[in-house]
Amino acid sequence: MSEPSTTAPSSPRLDEIQREAENAFGAITDEASAETFRIAYLGKKGILRDLLKRVGAVPEDQRRAYGARVNELHRSFEDRFARAPWRTAHQAVGPAFDPGLPAFPVPQGSLHPLMKIRNAMRDIFLNMGFSVAYGPDIETDYYNFEALNMPAFHPARDMQDTFYITATHLLRTHTSPVQIRTMELERPPIRTIMPGRVYRNEEISARSYCLFHQIEGLYIDEGVSFADLKGTLLAFSRRFFDDATRLKIRPSFFPFTEPSVEIDVECFLCKGKGCGICKGSGWLEVLGAGMVHPRVLAAGDIDGERYTGFAFGIGIERIALLKFGIEDIRFFYENDVRFLRQF
Ligand code: DAH
Repeated sequence: MSEPSTTAPSSPRLDEIQREAENAFGAITDEASAETFRIAYLGKKGILRDLLKRVGAVPEDQRRAYGARVNELHRSFEDRFARAPWRTAHQAVGPAFDPGLPAFPVPQGSLHPLMKIRNAMRDIFLNMGFSVAYGPDIETDYYNFEALNMPAFHPARDMQDTFYITATHLLRTHTSPVQIRTMELERPPIRTIMPGRVYRNEEISARSYCLFHQIEGLYIDEGVSFADLKGTLLAFSRRFFDDATRLKIRPSFFPFTEPSVEIDVECFLCKGKGCGICKGSGWLEVLGAGMVHPRVLAAGDIDGERYTGFAFGIGIERIALLKFGIEDIRFFYENDVRFLRQF
């Protein structure tokens, strides 16, 4: 660095300063050393500015040449400094850091459409005072069939094509086994829904898949009647679909309920007039239900003389297909983000 002086440096001295500046510039390795260089040479009190200030001390006839040279020196270092490589790394990703800008957007996932439907249904039942319980996907023959009044060789087992893992263990074919697990853990009044994934060895097509989701419901207390079943499911349907929805209750058969019913919900799209979604019938088949069979209560160690209950099972996929207007059930399981981003 040049020592403070009131006299202007001679030409050979300027050469020396230029060499020093050149060396200092060449020694820059990172932002910190760049800043040191900037302050020493280019800053307001830097060496190159200082040279300019001393132009008055230069003999009149040399002033022009001196001024031009120092100006050029300053300009060229400023120029090279601005284009220097330790900056390009930053400039390649964007402009200089602006702390006022919002943060980089972090890509955000969204809930799977099936989970949205499940959550909406669950919240309605939670509001009615139901609690939520879960059971294992890998079940024993006992919970999936036997305790639900389907002993070995019972023909009703054929209603559900089962993936067996061993002779005694299988992938649950429905969420009904969680009814038994809940009864084993709790005493009436029991008011619980049991959402979960279930598996069936079915041919895969646009309408059926080897796994799907259900929400099971169970209500056991003294004096629970079929009217409670109707009232609960009607209240649910009116909140979930449309507040004027009607239900159609058809007799059916399930080994674990007596009597058993299947319940159709008035088509929420055409309001019962008949459309493409309900195939012109005005009704949608959405759930199975019934009064809990005394043998099932017994399997759950609940006194069937004192208590009664109702149960129901709702398939989630079918309702999601209908609600979102999706044509192929396989979309739910392909994890294609172009599909998933729409929800
Ligand atoms: N578990 C039956 C199925 O998957 C559905 C069902 C019907 C569940 C009647 C119930 C019920 O709780 O009461 O086909």
